[in-house]
Amino acid sequence: MKRTMKLLAAGSILAASALYGGASTAACAGCHGQHFEKKAMGVSKIVKDMSKADILVALKGYKAGTYGGAMKQIMQGQVKALSDADIKAIADIIKSGAGTPTNVATANAAAAAVAAAKVIDINAKVCDPKRIQKEDLGNKKEVDETTLGLRKTSLFQEDNVAPPAVKNDRPAPGSAPRFERAYVNAPPMIPHSVEGLLPITKDNNQCLGCHMPDVAKSMGATPIPATHFTNYRPTTVYKNGELVKEGKVVGLKGDIGNVGDIKLAKVKKLNHLYQGRYNCSQCHAPQANVETAVANTFKPDGLTGDLKTHSNLIDMMDDGVK
Ligand code: HEC
Ligand code: HEC
Ligand code: HEC
Repeated sequence: MKRTMKLLAAGSILAASALYGGASTAACAGCHGQHFEKKAMGVSKIVKDMSKADILVALKGYKAGTYGGAMKQIMQGQVKALSDADIKAIADIIKSGAGTPTNVATANAAAAAVAAAKVIDINAKVCDPKRIQKEDLGNKKEVDETTLGLRKTSLFQEDNVAPPAVKNDRPAPGSAPRFERAYVNAPPMIPHSVEGLLPITKDNNQCLGCHMPDVAKSMGATPIPATHFTNYRPTTVYKNGELVKEGKVVGLKGDIGNVGDIKLAKVKKLNHLYQGRYNCSQCHAPQANVETAVANTFKPDGLTGDLKTHSNLIDMMDDGVK
């Protein structure tokens, strides 16, 4: 695997995110409904039924960190960048019911942009032939320091060596176009903002609230796949001073048994999420808008049709296992 995570190039993302700045409620709809008629994530008040004064108290309070319940971090992320004037404008939009004409237009444009954007092809920009031609070191006889390494400058130069600026501007869950998989059965990258969702802790994993298979459909989210409810590890016990895997002694004292005899893909279906999958962000990476430091020449094999947007690992797991 040549790369585990691909960062995004500018174009498509900027076009989509421009719709979410300032006093717009487009980014709220995924959780609160188009007209704030839903309980966001099953816990918030129905905001359209709140008074304008209460909405102002809530939004300003989330921003100041003085208001909210167990999931207030999510809202803190939503309002952090809003000015008091933005907040007032948003309260006005909410209380205008159907939304002001401009708001409806923005929301519709946002929904249309998401639908039109379908799935973002992450390979197009990173593999830009011009950049590869300039930087593909494997094909060059001579390289100078402006190409070599990540700093793109002489080793004696200490100015201007800061990494490129990173812009975290992904839309909220529910309004984010998904990314094509990087290769067949790659963990999909997180297409939406993770403001307020990370870090995952022992007592707080909000990813489950939207992605567990029983709720995912109603949230419009991809359900956590069956592989994550499966324990692929061999049962390992320590018995009479020996390590025993799947009933076979693999040894601690004396000879090490033949580990290759153990069928690792012995599947144990669980009725709960396998522990090793709990820390979602260990494998699924949120995305920022930043140029990659080096041109990327990776081309996935066999990434066609459905495999661009879905995994089939559960069916392929035993391929080649006798
Ligand atoms: C990722 C989902 C999500 C998004 C997007 C979101 N909210 Fe919320 N919102 C919530 C949750 C969850 C709560 C309850 C949080 C808590 O525990 O206090 C909430 C609470 C609120 C409340 C207070 C209601 C109460 O129960 O006291 C208001 C007002 C509100 N949101 C407005 C907005 C606005 C305006 C936006 C868009 C700028 C927005 N929200 C975007 C999830 C979301
Ligand atoms: C408020 C609900 C919500 C929460 C919370 C949430 N997601 Fe999502 N997630 C979605 C939705 C909806 C989509 C589909 C894209 C969209 O519409 O934004 C999605 C898409 C994804 C995808 C892409 C799946 C694909 O098929 O390409 C990944 C990966 C993902 N989320 C991971 C996470 C992780 C990890 C967390 C916790 C840090 C998380 N999500 C929290 C709703 C949520
Ligand atoms: C150990 C790495 C790892 C962890 C931890 C992990 N995943 Fe995954 N995830 C993967 C891989 C690899 C795939 C693609 C192959 C597959 O379907 O298993 C995947 C696939 C997915 C998919 C796409 C399923 C589809 O139908 O295409 C979703 C959604 C998802 N994971 C959500 C989550 C969430 C939510 C968590 C946290 C509760 C999580 N994952 C934890 C590695 C991981």
